[in-house]
Amino acid sequence: MPPSPGKFITLEGGEGTGKSTQARLLQAALRQRGLEVALTREPGGAPGAELIRKLLVEGDAARWDAMSEALLLFAARRVHLRETIIPALNRGEWVVCDRFTDSTFAYQGDAGGLGRGAIERLSAIALGKDSPVPDVTLVLDIPVELGLARANSRGGAENRFESLGTEFHQRLRDSFLQIAKSEPVRCALIDATPPPETVAADIIAVLASRLGI
Ligand code: TYD
Repeated sequence: MPPSPGKFITLEGGEGTGKSTQARLLQAALRQRGLEVALTREPGGAPGAELIRKLLVEGDAARWDAMSEALLLFAARRVHLRETIIPALNRGEWVVCDRFTDSTFAYQGDAGGLGRGAIERLSAIALGKDSPVPDVTLVLDIPVELGLARANSRGGAENRFESLGTEFHQRLRDSFLQIAKSEPVRCALIDATPPPETVAADIIAVLASRLGI
């Protein structure tokens, strides 16, 4: 039998939703089922894109405005797609990606005020029309206060976005909820409040029903 074609799965959500933990748990669960899985993240996921990541996530909140961020994000995403995601999918691997273009719609488009139309146009220019679209997007949702408390307890240098106000994070949550609602075939909304094992089981249940794993 030919190898099953690779699938592209993205995890999305605001700060402190536990996406990175879930991405790792998902990679392990898919590997247990005998699948080849590439785990990657945005911004980043390829050497040049990781350099751009550092510019984006560190430093003062006022360092970039939303358009500068969006341009940097699409530069990183283009490299990531060409060097990591597309080659892995072509090898028949499953790609689990911690954040992707929905984050740009939510952070820069909605919460950052650029609007969705601007992000769509940038995406069409930077990535082209034939760029891979996720087969399934898991939108992890958690109340803003709880997410920020979790994110702040992590510490570290990557706190540029976390330092934006609660109002920004509320807009962000609303945006992700709206994305999940408006694209129900691609997106699944996951309650990220319970313990990680429970969230992981919910994610597997979604993928079992949608992708037959
Ligand atoms: P991430 O590594 O997922 O951080 P966290 O685990 O804290 O959520 O993402 C880094 C930051 O980059 C995060 O604060 C969100 C931001 N970001 C955007 O603003 N737009 C984007 O398109 C992406 C991919 C990330």
